[in-house]
Amino acid sequence: MDLRNAKVLVTGATGGIGQVLAVGLAARGSDVVLTGRRADMLKPLAERLGGRAIPADLADREAIEELLDQAGEIDVLVANAALPATGLLADYSIGEIDRALDVNLRAPIVMAKLAGERMAARRRGHLVFISSLSGKAASGQASLYNATKFGMRGFALALREDMRPHNVGVSTVFPGVIRDAGMFADSGATLPRGVGTRSPRDVARATVRAIEKNLAEVDVAPLSLRLVTLVAGVAPNVSAAVQRRVGGDKTTEQLAKGQRHKR
Ligand SMILES: NC(=O)c1ccc[n+]([C@@H]2O[C@H](COP(=O)([O-])OP(=O)(O)OC[C@H]3O[C@@H](n4cnc5c(N)ncnc54)[C@H](OP(=O)(O)O)[C@@H]3O)[C@@H](O)[C@H]2O)c1
Repeated sequence: MDLRNAKVLVTGATGGIGQVLAVGLAARGSDVVLTGRRADMLKPLAERLGGRAIPADLADREAIEELLDQAGEIDVLVANAALPATGLLADYSIGEIDRALDVNLRAPIVMAKLAGERMAARRRGHLVFISSLSGKAASGQASLYNATKFGMRGFALALREDMRPHNVGVSTVFPGVIRDAGMFADSGATLPRGVGTRSPRDVARATVRAIEKNLAEVDVAPLSLRLVTLVAGVAPNVSAAVQRRVGGDKTTEQLAKGQRHKR
């Protein structure tokens, strides 16, 4: 997919990573359509990038179809919006569980269906899902977040096969811990010693690369964290013990506290 003059819909464009993603895609020559709930942030950003702003709440089921109708024919969907969904399941109301599942998993699936059908008819398009290394490795106090991000991985890998004959690409991006802006940085949580981070720009660069090269999956994390994630995939019990030993449970506790207001 050539991003020059491509129409790209970015969800979560008001967020720490979404804003940088929007800037990166516009710099690549894309015509960006930006969405999020905070219209006061969305509109100036879209104006600055010569794009369009369409405020929408992705937990509102009807709003998703309206959003795609308003966006018109899009060449690329970047499903980036998410809620942190951290904390103990016991501390969640059923409504909060539904919202996390709706925003993090249902909305990307429904948007991929609606946008993907139009892309398949035109034999041109790309669907990108911003997951997380939490879509490959679980940690305490993140059962809902892990559920949505693991789910997204399976969905995207299967969809990639189904979309292949229609010339529509599907990619998933897996950021590790992102510094400076976004849901981790906003939480004020601290990391165990030795755990490295990446920047929102690194996520934007990886997303552009995934679209342009039609990559199935891209990790955005230091090698050490990618290796730990690889181990978690084959030996989750070992990974859980290592996380406890290096004090990962302190970080997950801090994250749950710092992200509680975003349920
Ligand atoms: N930051 C990290 O360390 C990190 C690491 C791995 C993966 N990720 C992933 O990267 C992506 C972006 O995260 P971020 O760090 O930029 O988080 P963020 O700063 O909290 O931004 C989240 C975005 O999601 C949008 N959103 C939340 N609820 C919504 C709703 N009901 N309807 C529409 N939009 C909604 C927010 O927009 P409004 O508030 O305006 O609605 C905001 O733009 C997420 O998928 C996240 O899981 C982040």
